[in-house]
Amino acid sequence: MLDKTQDKAFYEDVVAGLSLPQKAIPPKYFYDERGSQLFDEICDVPEYYPTRTEAALLARVASELAARLANFDHLVEYGSGASRKTRIVLDALSRLQSYVPMDISEEFLLGVADKLNGDYPKLEVVPLVGDFTNDLTLPAEVRHGRKIGFFPGSTIGNLGPEGGRDFLARARKLLGNDAAFVLGADLVKDADVLRAAYNDRAGVTAKFNLNLLSRINRELGANFDECAFHHDAVWNGEESRIEMHLVSDAAQSVALNGHTFRFRPGETIHTENSYKFTPARLTALAKDAGWHADEIWTDKEFPFAVALLSAA
Ligand code: AVJ
Repeated sequence: MLDKTQDKAFYEDVVAGLSLPQKAIPPKYFYDERGSQLFDEICDVPEYYPTRTEAALLARVASELAARLANFDHLVEYGSGASRKTRIVLDALSRLQSYVPMDISEEFLLGVADKLNGDYPKLEVVPLVGDFTNDLTLPAEVRHGRKIGFFPGSTIGNLGPEGGRDFLARARKLLGNDAAFVLGADLVKDADVLRAAYNDRAGVTAKFNLNLLSRINRELGANFDECAFHHDAVWNGEESRIEMHLVSDAAQSVALNGHTFRFRPGETIHTENSYKFTPARLTALAKDAGWHADEIWTDKEFPFAVALLSAA
């Protein structure tokens, strides 16, 4: 369950976001339990290349990662979700003491941690419910020892250039001077491939996007008509990002706790940015945040990068 302060933050972020000239809601609110399930389904749709591309890339470089990370004790994953790709890393890093999956969706996180505990009996799994866009405290179990941060999936692409740098700088502080970081980031590629990945034909991404409106109705008591909005994802080449929007199909108004939000036909709520990088941009971003990019491995067919950073 979300506690009261998280509920309040959700409410305040939604009211503030719907009051902007370009209405917007932060993408972290996609991930209630249903949203986490839907994202996990997205990972399997044929058009969504990032998950399988990154998994294949991690498998390809696993032994090299294992060699370079042999002297580390703990793995801390930001936004662990279903911890799919983690298993590849955990299988390679057999000397790890503990794994800290961190996620904003408590129910989902605890279920995943349970399964991992069964599958990795020698590993201490310490789930941490949290929002990595805020400051975090590490559990006592991992306070001593060398830590590896793990942030796969190109979730960093949600944060924007400044947000990404701030995040990496905070991670650098949290994980310490002897830390390493494994970062997965999607790369700029053919615009049609990008658009297809975020407008899948089965409509799972649309459901994922629209679920945000159900969540706002359910948790905050709004009266969005989910059938009067549709999903759209567009490539903004100038900003190098995919943007997800919820488009209002008609003139309509929505009530939320005494507020009224009006929509023109075609007006949108901007729900997500998914920035796409180049290896050079990743190197610069890491450097600005106090990390050194020791290695960047890439997939050629569907450009995607896994970077190994060390605390500079
Ligand atoms: C979980 C943020 C990496 O941006 O590709 C997938 C989320 N949104 N389809 C992404 C998402 C629509 C995803 N991240």
